[in-house]
Amino acid sequence: MAEVKKIAVIAGDGIGPEVVAEAEKVLKKTEELFGYQFELEHGLFGGIAIDEKGTPLPQETLDLCKKADAVLLGAVGGPKWDNNSKELRPETGLLGIRKALGLFSNIRPAVVFDCLKDASTLKPEVLEGTDLIVIRELTGGIYFGEKFRRDTENGQEAVDTCVYNVTEVERIVRQGFEVARTRRKKLASVDKANVLETSRLWRETVNRIAPEYPDVEVEHVLVDNCAMQLLRRPSSFDVIVTENMFGDILSDEAAMLTGSIGMLQSASMGEGSFGLYEPVHGSAPDIAGQGIANPIATILSVALMFRLTFGYAEAADVIERAVKNVLDAGHRTGDIAVDKSKSIGTVAMGELIVNAMAR
Ligand code: NAI
Ligand code: MG
Repeated sequence: MAEVKKIAVIAGDGIGPEVVAEAEKVLKKTEELFGYQFELEHGLFGGIAIDEKGTPLPQETLDLCKKADAVLLGAVGGPKWDNNSKELRPETGLLGIRKALGLFSNIRPAVVFDCLKDASTLKPEVLEGTDLIVIRELTGGIYFGEKFRRDTENGQEAVDTCVYNVTEVERIVRQGFEVARTRRKKLASVDKANVLETSRLWRETVNRIAPEYPDVEVEHVLVDNCAMQLLRRPSSFDVIVTENMFGDILSDEAAMLTGSIGMLQSASMGEGSFGLYEPVHGSAPDIAGQGIANPIATILSVALMFRLTFGYAEAADVIERAVKNVLDAGHRTGDIAVDKSKSIGTVAMGELIVNAMAR
Protein backbone atom coordinates (compact mmCIF):
# COMPACT_ATOMS: atom_id res chain seq x y z
CA MET A 1 0.00 0.00 0.00
CA ALA A 2 1.19 3.49 -0.85
CA GLU A 3 2.01 5.94 1.88
CA VAL A 4 -0.95 8.09 3.00
CA LYS A 5 -0.74 11.56 1.45
CA LYS A 6 -2.52 14.43 3.12
CA ILE A 7 -4.27 16.89 0.84
CA ALA A 8 -5.93 20.04 2.17
CA VAL A 9 -8.95 20.76 -0.02
CA ILE A 10 -10.17 24.34 -0.10
CA ALA A 11 -13.05 24.77 -2.51
CA GLY A 12 -13.69 28.48 -1.90
CA ASP A 13 -16.36 30.54 -3.65
CA GLY A 14 -18.38 30.69 -6.87
CA ILE A 15 -17.55 27.81 -9.21
CA GLY A 16 -14.74 26.70 -6.84
CA PRO A 17 -16.81 23.97 -5.11
CA GLU A 18 -18.25 22.80 -8.45
CA VAL A 19 -14.88 22.21 -10.13
CA VAL A 20 -13.14 20.89 -7.00
CA ALA A 21 -15.83 18.20 -6.60
CA GLU A 22 -14.89 16.80 -10.01
CA ALA A 23 -11.17 16.89 -9.21
CA GLU A 24 -11.88 14.91 -6.03
CA LYS A 25 -13.53 12.20 -8.14
CA VAL A 26 -10.33 12.01 -10.20
CA LEU A 27 -8.25 11.65 -7.01
CA LYS A 28 -10.53 8.81 -5.84
CA LYS A 29 -10.18 7.08 -9.19
CA THR A 30 -6.39 7.09 -8.92
CA GLU A 31 -6.71 5.43 -5.49
CA GLU A 32 -8.63 2.65 -7.24
CA LEU A 33 -6.24 2.39 -10.18
CA PHE A 34 -2.91 2.75 -8.37
CA GLY A 35 -3.62 1.86 -4.72
CA TYR A 36 -2.77 5.37 -3.55
CA GLN A 37 -4.17 6.62 -0.27
CA PHE A 38 -5.23 10.20 0.08
CA GLU A 39 -6.51 11.79 3.24
CA LEU A 40 -8.59 14.78 2.21
CA GLU A 41 -9.32 17.47 4.77
CA HIS A 42 -11.59 20.34 3.84
CA GLY A 43 -11.10 23.94 4.95
CA LEU A 44 -12.86 27.30 4.61
CA PHE A 45 -11.20 30.06 2.64
CA GLY A 46 -12.15 33.28 0.87
CA GLY A 47 -15.60 34.82 0.86
CA ILE A 48 -17.28 31.86 2.51
CA ALA A 49 -14.71 32.07 5.34
CA ILE A 50 -15.44 35.79 5.73
CA ASP A 51 -19.14 34.98 6.08
CA GLU A 52 -18.66 32.11 8.51
CA LYS A 53 -15.48 33.00 10.42
CA GLY A 54 -15.05 36.74 9.91
CA THR A 55 -11.72 36.41 8.08
CA PRO A 56 -10.73 35.24 4.57
CA LEU A 57 -7.94 33.03 5.91
CA PRO A 58 -8.91 31.38 9.25
CA GLN A 59 -6.02 30.06 11.36
CA GLU A 60 -7.46 26.53 11.25
CA THR A 61 -7.35 26.55 7.44
CA LEU A 62 -3.75 27.69 7.49
CA ASP A 63 -2.90 24.93 10.03
CA LEU A 64 -4.63 22.39 7.78
CA CYS A 65 -2.48 23.49 4.84
CA LYS A 66 0.72 23.46 6.89
CA LYS A 67 0.30 19.85 7.95
CA ALA A 68 -0.71 18.70 4.46
CA ASP A 69 1.61 17.42 1.72
CA ALA A 70 -0.26 19.49 -0.86
CA VAL A 71 -3.20 21.86 -1.14
CA LEU A 72 -5.96 21.72 -3.74
CA LEU A 73 -7.67 25.08 -4.09
CA GLY A 74 -10.73 26.09 -6.13
CA ALA A 75 -11.15 29.85 -6.40
CA VAL A 76 -12.15 32.73 -4.17
CA GLY A 77 -13.93 36.04 -4.51
CA GLY A 78 -17.13 37.50 -5.87
CA PRO A 79 -19.19 40.69 -6.06
CA LYS A 80 -20.62 40.10 -2.58
CA TRP A 81 -17.27 40.96 -1.00
CA ASP A 82 -15.92 43.44 -3.57
CA ASN A 83 -16.65 46.51 -1.46
CA ASN A 84 -15.29 45.08 1.79
CA SER A 85 -12.32 46.67 3.50
CA LYS A 86 -8.93 45.21 2.55
CA GLU A 87 -8.70 42.79 5.52
CA LEU A 88 -12.11 41.41 4.65
CA ARG A 89 -11.49 40.78 0.97
CA PRO A 90 -11.09 37.20 -0.32
CA GLU A 91 -8.08 38.21 -2.45
CA THR A 92 -6.26 39.34 0.71
CA GLY A 93 -6.54 35.72 1.89
CA LEU A 94 -5.06 34.56 -1.39
CA LEU A 95 -2.00 36.78 -1.06
CA GLY A 96 -1.76 35.85 2.63
CA ILE A 97 -1.83 32.09 2.14
CA ARG A 98 0.97 32.25 -0.44
CA LYS A 99 3.09 34.30 1.92
CA ALA A 100 2.31 32.16 5.00
CA LEU A 101 3.15 28.93 3.18
CA GLY A 102 6.36 30.39 1.72
CA LEU A 103 5.13 29.89 -1.85
CA PHE A 104 7.31 32.10 -3.97
CA SER A 105 6.68 30.77 -7.45
CA ASN A 106 3.62 30.20 -9.58
CA ILE A 107 4.01 27.67 -12.36
CA ARG A 108 1.52 27.81 -15.20
CA PRO A 109 1.77 25.50 -18.18
CA ALA A 110 0.04 26.58 -21.40
CA VAL A 111 -0.28 23.65 -23.74
CA VAL A 112 -2.39 23.81 -26.87
CA PHE A 113 -4.48 20.64 -27.32
CA ASP A 114 -4.56 19.88 -31.07
CA CYS A 115 -8.29 19.25 -31.08
CA LEU A 116 -8.94 22.62 -29.40
CA LYS A 117 -7.06 24.76 -31.89
CA ASP A 118 -10.48 25.77 -33.22
CA ALA A 119 -11.48 27.18 -29.80
CA SER A 120 -8.70 29.77 -29.77
CA THR A 121 -8.99 33.16 -31.41
CA LEU A 122 -5.53 32.70 -32.95
CA LYS A 123 -4.82 30.96 -36.22
CA PRO A 124 -4.13 27.21 -35.84
CA GLU A 125 -0.80 27.51 -37.71
CA VAL A 126 0.41 30.10 -35.17
CA LEU A 127 -0.57 27.86 -32.25
CA GLU A 128 0.88 24.65 -33.65
CA GLY A 129 3.30 23.06 -31.19
CA THR A 130 2.76 25.58 -28.39
CA ASP A 131 3.94 24.10 -25.10
CA LEU A 132 5.25 26.67 -22.65
CA ILE A 133 5.46 27.35 -18.94
CA VAL A 134 5.22 30.72 -17.27
CA ILE A 135 7.01 30.92 -13.91
CA ARG A 136 5.87 33.96 -11.99
CA GLU A 137 7.43 35.33 -8.78
CA LEU A 138 4.69 35.42 -6.16
CA THR A 139 5.77 37.09 -2.95
CA GLY A 140 7.46 40.33 -3.97
CA GLY A 141 7.08 43.25 -6.31
CA ILE A 142 4.40 45.89 -6.48
CA TYR A 143 1.62 43.70 -5.03
CA PHE A 144 3.45 43.53 -1.71
CA GLY A 145 5.21 46.90 -1.63
CA GLU A 146 4.09 49.72 0.61
CA LYS A 147 0.86 51.31 -0.62
CA PHE A 148 -0.94 54.37 0.67
CA ARG A 149 -2.95 57.47 -0.18
CA ARG A 150 -2.09 61.05 0.64
CA ASP A 151 -3.72 64.40 0.08
CA THR A 152 -1.77 66.88 -2.01
CA GLU A 153 -2.42 70.33 -3.39
CA ASN A 154 -3.59 68.65 -6.59
CA GLY A 155 -6.00 66.33 -4.83
CA GLN A 156 -5.58 62.79 -3.63
CA GLU A 157 -2.49 60.81 -4.61
CA ALA A 158 -2.06 57.02 -4.50
CA VAL A 159 1.31 55.29 -4.15
CA ASP A 160 2.31 51.67 -4.87
CA THR A 161 5.93 50.69 -4.42
CA CYS A 162 7.76 47.90 -6.22
CA VAL A 163 10.51 46.22 -4.18
CA TYR A 164 12.67 43.18 -4.95
CA ASN A 165 15.73 41.98 -3.10
CA VAL A 166 18.42 39.92 -4.78
CA THR A 167 17.59 36.76 -2.78
CA GLU A 168 13.99 36.83 -4.00
CA VAL A 169 15.13 37.28 -7.59
CA GLU A 170 17.81 34.62 -7.40
CA ARG A 171 15.61 31.81 -6.04
CA ILE A 172 12.92 32.27 -8.73
CA VAL A 173 15.46 32.67 -11.53
CA ARG A 174 17.18 29.47 -10.40
CA GLN A 175 13.85 27.68 -10.52
CA GLY A 176 13.45 28.95 -14.08
CA PHE A 177 16.81 27.50 -15.09
CA GLU A 178 16.05 24.20 -13.31
CA VAL A 179 12.66 23.78 -15.00
CA ALA A 180 14.12 24.76 -18.40
CA ARG A 181 16.73 22.06 -17.92
CA THR A 182 14.02 19.39 -17.72
CA ARG A 183 12.41 20.66 -20.94
CA ARG A 184 13.67 22.24 -24.18
CA LYS A 185 16.40 24.18 -22.32
CA LYS A 186 15.25 27.65 -23.34
CA LEU A 187 14.68 30.36 -20.76
CA ALA A 188 13.08 33.71 -21.56
CA SER A 189 13.65 36.15 -18.71
CA VAL A 190 11.08 38.93 -18.90
CA ASP A 191 11.65 42.37 -17.38
CA LYS A 192 11.40 46.10 -18.09
CA ALA A 193 15.10 46.83 -17.59
CA ASN A 194 14.97 49.90 -19.83
CA VAL A 195 12.80 51.67 -17.23
CA LEU A 196 12.65 49.93 -13.84
CA GLU A 197 15.43 49.60 -11.26
CA THR A 198 13.94 46.32 -9.94
CA SER A 199 14.17 45.00 -13.51
CA ARG A 200 17.82 46.01 -13.78
CA LEU A 201 18.58 44.01 -10.61
CA TRP A 202 16.58 41.14 -12.10
CA ARG A 203 18.57 41.15 -15.34
CA GLU A 204 21.94 41.42 -13.57
CA THR A 205 20.98 38.42 -11.44
CA VAL A 206 20.00 36.33 -14.48
CA ASN A 207 23.31 37.19 -16.18
CA ARG A 208 25.30 36.35 -13.04
CA ILE A 209 23.64 32.93 -12.65
CA ALA A 210 23.49 31.96 -16.34
CA PRO A 211 27.09 30.61 -16.52
CA GLU A 212 26.08 27.93 -13.98
CA TYR A 213 23.58 26.61 -16.53
CA PRO A 214 25.60 26.52 -19.77
CA ASP A 215 23.14 24.03 -21.27
CA VAL A 216 20.25 26.54 -21.04
CA GLU A 217 19.87 29.20 -23.71
CA VAL A 218 18.83 32.54 -22.16
CA GLU A 219 16.90 35.30 -23.89
CA HIS A 220 16.07 38.65 -22.20
CA VAL A 221 12.70 39.95 -23.36
CA LEU A 222 11.11 43.26 -22.40
CA VAL A 223 7.62 42.68 -21.05
CA ASP A 224 5.79 44.69 -23.72
CA ASN A 225 7.66 42.84 -26.45
CA CYS A 226 6.91 39.52 -24.72
CA ALA A 227 3.19 40.36 -24.79
CA MET A 228 3.46 40.74 -28.57
CA GLN A 229 5.68 37.70 -29.20
CA LEU A 230 3.29 35.45 -27.26
CA LEU A 231 0.72 36.19 -29.96
CA ARG A 232 3.15 36.08 -32.91
CA ARG A 233 5.39 33.12 -32.12
CA PRO A 234 4.05 31.31 -29.03
CA SER A 235 5.61 27.98 -29.99
CA SER A 236 9.11 29.46 -29.78
CA PHE A 237 8.82 29.89 -25.98
CA ASP A 238 9.76 27.09 -23.59
CA VAL A 239 10.09 28.53 -20.06
CA ILE A 240 9.30 32.17 -19.26
CA VAL A 241 10.44 33.48 -15.87
CA THR A 242 9.28 36.85 -14.62
CA GLU A 243 8.30 39.02 -11.67
CA ASN A 244 4.92 39.11 -9.96
CA MET A 245 2.81 41.62 -11.88
CA PHE A 246 4.29 40.92 -15.32
CA GLY A 247 3.73 37.22 -14.67
CA ASP A 248 0.14 37.81 -13.61
CA ILE A 249 -0.63 39.52 -16.91
CA LEU A 250 1.48 37.35 -19.24
CA SER A 251 0.18 34.10 -17.80
CA ASP A 252 -3.40 35.20 -18.44
CA GLU A 253 -2.39 36.12 -21.98
CA ALA A 254 -0.72 32.71 -22.41
CA ALA A 255 -3.94 31.21 -21.06
CA MET A 256 -5.84 32.55 -24.02
CA LEU A 257 -3.57 30.71 -26.46
CA THR A 258 -5.23 27.51 -25.26
CA GLY A 259 -8.71 28.78 -26.00
CA SER A 260 -10.10 29.02 -22.49
CA ILE A 261 -9.01 29.93 -19.03
CA GLY A 262 -11.08 26.90 -17.98
CA MET A 263 -8.29 24.64 -19.31
CA LEU A 264 -5.34 25.94 -17.31
CA GLN A 265 -3.79 24.37 -14.26
CA SER A 266 -1.25 25.96 -11.95
CA ALA A 267 1.10 25.21 -9.08
CA SER A 268 2.49 27.50 -6.41
CA MET A 269 5.70 26.18 -4.93
CA GLY A 270 8.23 27.08 -2.29
CA GLU A 271 11.43 25.28 -1.41
CA GLY A 272 10.99 21.49 -1.53
CA SER A 273 8.05 19.50 -2.86
CA PHE A 274 5.12 21.13 -1.03
CA GLY A 275 2.78 22.85 -3.45
CA LEU A 276 -0.58 24.53 -3.73
CA TYR A 277 -2.49 23.53 -6.85
CA GLU A 278 -5.35 25.45 -8.38
CA PRO A 279 -6.98 26.37 -11.65
CA VAL A 280 -5.77 29.67 -13.09
CA HIS A 281 -9.32 30.99 -13.35
CA GLY A 282 -11.24 32.77 -10.64
CA SER A 283 -14.62 32.08 -9.08
CA ALA A 284 -16.51 33.05 -12.27
CA PRO A 285 -19.52 34.58 -10.50
CA ASP A 286 -21.23 35.05 -13.87
CA ILE A 287 -21.67 31.28 -14.28
CA ALA A 288 -21.52 30.07 -10.66
CA GLY A 289 -24.29 27.73 -9.54
CA GLN A 290 -25.30 26.83 -13.10
CA GLY A 291 -23.30 23.60 -13.34
CA ILE A 292 -21.62 24.69 -16.57
CA ALA A 293 -18.05 25.51 -15.42
CA ASN A 294 -15.22 23.63 -17.10
CA PRO A 295 -13.58 21.35 -14.47
CA ILE A 296 -10.55 20.50 -16.65
CA ALA A 297 -8.22 23.18 -15.21
CA THR A 298 -8.78 21.81 -11.70
CA ILE A 299 -8.47 18.19 -12.85
CA LEU A 300 -5.19 19.01 -14.62
CA SER A 301 -4.05 20.71 -11.41
CA VAL A 302 -4.29 17.29 -9.76
CA ALA A 303 -2.04 15.88 -12.52
CA LEU A 304 0.44 18.68 -11.86
CA MET A 305 0.32 17.87 -8.10
CA PHE A 306 1.11 14.26 -8.91
CA ARG A 307 4.12 15.30 -10.98
CA LEU A 308 5.64 18.06 -8.85
CA THR A 309 4.76 17.06 -5.26
CA PHE A 310 4.17 13.30 -5.19
CA GLY A 311 6.30 12.07 -8.09
CA TYR A 312 3.30 10.04 -9.39
CA ALA A 313 4.19 10.60 -13.04
CA GLU A 314 2.36 7.55 -14.37
CA ALA A 315 -0.92 8.63 -12.72
CA ALA A 316 -0.42 12.16 -14.04
CA ASP A 317 -0.10 10.68 -17.54
CA VAL A 318 -3.32 8.72 -17.00
CA ILE A 319 -5.23 11.88 -16.04
CA GLU A 320 -3.83 13.95 -18.92
CA ARG A 321 -4.51 11.17 -21.41
CA ALA A 322 -8.09 10.83 -20.17
CA VAL A 323 -8.64 14.58 -20.66
CA LYS A 324 -7.19 14.41 -24.15
CA ASN A 325 -9.31 11.38 -25.09
CA VAL A 326 -12.53 13.00 -23.87
CA LEU A 327 -11.74 16.16 -25.83
CA ASP A 328 -10.72 14.18 -28.92
CA ALA A 329 -14.09 12.41 -28.72
CA GLY A 330 -15.67 15.84 -29.16
CA HIS A 331 -17.03 16.52 -25.66
CA ARG A 332 -16.96 20.21 -24.71
CA THR A 333 -18.08 22.46 -21.89
CA GLY A 334 -19.57 25.77 -23.03
CA ASP A 335 -16.35 27.77 -22.75
CA ILE A 336 -14.53 25.59 -25.30
CA ALA A 337 -17.48 24.60 -27.49
CA VAL A 338 -17.81 25.99 -30.99
CA ASP A 339 -21.46 24.92 -31.05
CA LYS A 340 -22.67 25.99 -27.59
CA SER A 341 -25.97 24.13 -27.97
CA LYS A 342 -24.11 20.81 -27.85
CA SER A 343 -22.04 21.60 -24.76
CA ILE A 344 -22.11 19.52 -21.59
CA GLY A 345 -22.01 20.51 -17.91
CA THR A 346 -19.41 20.31 -15.13
CA VAL A 347 -20.51 16.97 -13.69
CA ALA A 348 -20.89 15.30 -17.07
CA MET A 349 -17.38 16.40 -18.09
CA GLY A 350 -15.94 15.19 -14.77
CA GLU A 351 -17.60 11.81 -15.10
CA LEU A 352 -16.46 11.33 -18.71
CA ILE A 353 -12.88 12.00 -17.64
CA VAL A 354 -13.07 9.65 -14.63
CA ASN A 355 -14.54 6.92 -16.84
CA ALA A 356 -11.79 7.45 -19.43
CA MET A 357 -9.04 6.96 -16.84
CA ALA A 358 -7.25 3.67 -17.34
CA ARG A 359 -3.71 2.40 -16.83
P1 NAI B 1 -12.67 34.54 -13.69
O1 NAI B 1 -11.54 33.68 -14.09
O2 NAI B 1 -13.44 34.10 -12.52
O3 NAI B 1 -13.69 34.65 -14.93
C1 NAI B 1 -13.33 35.24 -16.18
C2 NAI B 1 -14.27 34.71 -17.28
O4 NAI B 1 -13.91 33.35 -17.59
C3 NAI B 1 -15.72 34.69 -16.88
O5 NAI B 1 -16.51 35.01 -17.99
C4 NAI B 1 -15.96 33.25 -16.45
O6 NAI B 1 -17.27 32.81 -16.62
C5 NAI B 1 -14.99 32.48 -17.35
N1 NAI B 1 -14.49 31.29 -16.69
C6 NAI B 1 -13.58 31.23 -15.67
N2 NAI B 1 -13.39 29.97 -15.29
C7 NAI B 1 -14.16 29.20 -16.06
C8 NAI B 1 -14.41 27.80 -16.12
N3 NAI B 1 -13.79 26.92 -15.31
N4 NAI B 1 -15.29 27.34 -17.03
C9 NAI B 1 -15.91 28.19 -17.87
N5 NAI B 1 -15.72 29.53 -17.86
C10 NAI B 1 -14.87 30.03 -16.96
O7 NAI B 1 -12.11 36.02 -13.49
P2 NAI B 1 -12.87 37.35 -13.02
O8 NAI B 1 -14.23 37.38 -13.58
O9 NAI B 1 -11.94 38.44 -13.32
O10 NAI B 1 -12.96 37.26 -11.45
C11 NAI B 1 -14.09 36.75 -10.76
C12 NAI B 1 -13.77 36.65 -9.28
O11 NAI B 1 -12.75 35.69 -9.07
C13 NAI B 1 -13.24 37.97 -8.68
O12 NAI B 1 -13.77 38.09 -7.39
C14 NAI B 1 -11.75 37.77 -8.63
O13 NAI B 1 -11.13 38.52 -7.65
C15 NAI B 1 -11.66 36.29 -8.35
N6 NAI B 1 -10.41 35.65 -8.78
C16 NAI B 1 -9.91 34.68 -7.99
C17 NAI B 1 -8.79 33.99 -8.35
C18 NAI B 1 -8.33 32.88 -7.48
O14 NAI B 1 -9.04 32.45 -6.60
N7 NAI B 1 -7.14 32.37 -7.69
C19 NAI B 1 -8.07 34.29 -9.60
C20 NAI B 1 -8.73 35.30 -10.41
C21 NAI B 1 -9.84 35.96 -10.00
MG1 MG C 1 -4.87 36.65 -12.55
